[in-house]
Amino acid sequence: MRTQVAIIGAGPAGLLLGQLLHKHGVDNVILENRSAEYVLGRIRAGVIEQGTADLLDQVGAAARMQSEGLVHDGTEICFGGARHRIDFRALTGKVVTVYGQTEITRDLMEKRTVAGAKTIYEATDVSLYDFDGAKPRVRYRKDGKQHEIECDFIAGCDGYHGVSRQSVPAKSIQSYERVYPFGWLGILSETPPVSEELIYVRHERGFALCSMRSPTRSRYYIQCSIEDDVEQWSDDCFWDELKRRLDEEAASTIVTGPSIEKSIAPLRSFVAEPMRFGSLFLAGDAAHIVPPTGAKGLNLAASDVHYLSEALVDFYQSRSAGALDRYSARALARVWKAERFSWWMTSLLHRLPGASPFEERMQLAELEYLVSSEAASRALAENYVGLPY
Ligand code: FAD
Ligand code: PHB
Repeated sequence: MRTQVAIIGAGPAGLLLGQLLHKHGVDNVILENRSAEYVLGRIRAGVIEQGTADLLDQVGAAARMQSEGLVHDGTEICFGGARHRIDFRALTGKVVTVYGQTEITRDLMEKRTVAGAKTIYEATDVSLYDFDGAKPRVRYRKDGKQHEIECDFIAGCDGYHGVSRQSVPAKSIQSYERVYPFGWLGILSETPPVSEELIYVRHERGFALCSMRSPTRSRYYIQCSIEDDVEQWSDDCFWDELKRRLDEEAASTIVTGPSIEKSIAPLRSFVAEPMRFGSLFLAGDAAHIVPPTGAKGLNLAASDVHYLSEALVDFYQSRSAGALDRYSARALARVWKAERFSWWMTSLLHRLPGASPFEERMQLAELEYLVSSEAASRALAENYVGLPY
């Protein structure tokens, strides 16, 4: 088989890149090692920046998000038992949309099927060849048979654990990493959200987040130990712990119910530099991870793919490699801004094991400053709604 761009991974990065390329007549094939059902079963991000929404619109995959997504003009930060509102619209003129990653994935998959573009699910043992030479190729196994795709370029959109980044010789790549000593225990439940807007909570017992997927479906998270096993958290234990961390009004009005999904996510900051190796380009979680506190992971995957699709389309239209040469630096400039914001939000709102009483007071003082200073609130809002591309 031959294609222009072989894309590894059918997460949001791979699917969006596939559609952006397809729209401009660039032929591509996606290889995904899981089944479509498995990919759709993963509950992850929920906050969509306007730039990401615009990209979905460009590929004609925004209709359901526009009708079912929830537009949020602001968010609440809760500490010391009181909630404080950050008004995104007033501070920046911009808003975010709350719409699940699962739904975005479903919408993109449907678009791809309608377009007749090829996605090979359950492609195992994917391996990359000669991306620093003249004949890049990708091999995989499907139904017990070995297959090979010849291509001009490979896009590594296969997430943090994927094969693409791991195929690069260690001496050619520099990584930066922080693993946080806690995780997020998240549940999804068929209950109305406790508040119309998200509530980010800093509490002595640990961080909590009240989010949602629709007016009847809630997503809640609490900071937990990385040693915790999801089995040890019954639904009752989860709700009790969440209520302890909320303000009185939220704790007394929250509607609880059985969880329909429950999982623990580790928190990590990670960047691999550069994001290009010959004809291999990394995008999304394959190149970088942010802790979810800033709601940036999926949005960064979208901005990478925007830069990469522009550069590839430019190459095929003008045979100029200039934009491809600039891809890594352009994407990384945005990545580091999101890394800073996500690290800062994480440090501001979590109980940091080993923090001294002084450091705890500084965290509170910083929160007080944040909600009382318009400049500080605006800085948060500008980063949260998304910096321009
Ligand atoms: P992924 O979504 O990871 O997609 C990569 C795809 O590649 C997957 O489908 C995978 O199966 C496939 N793949 C992997 N290896 C191979 C291989 N060898 N061959 C072929 N295919 C392969 N972000 C937020 O903003 N808010 C959140 O609440 C949030 N929660 C998260 C919870 C968890 C548990 C995780 C892991 C991430 C979370 N994120 C969150 C981050 C966000 O979901 C990611 O940033 C986003 O999914 C990145 O998209 P991606 O396409 O780059 O990678
Ligand atoms: C979510 O709804 O899953 C969500 C929202 C905001 C975050 C992280 C996760 O910062």
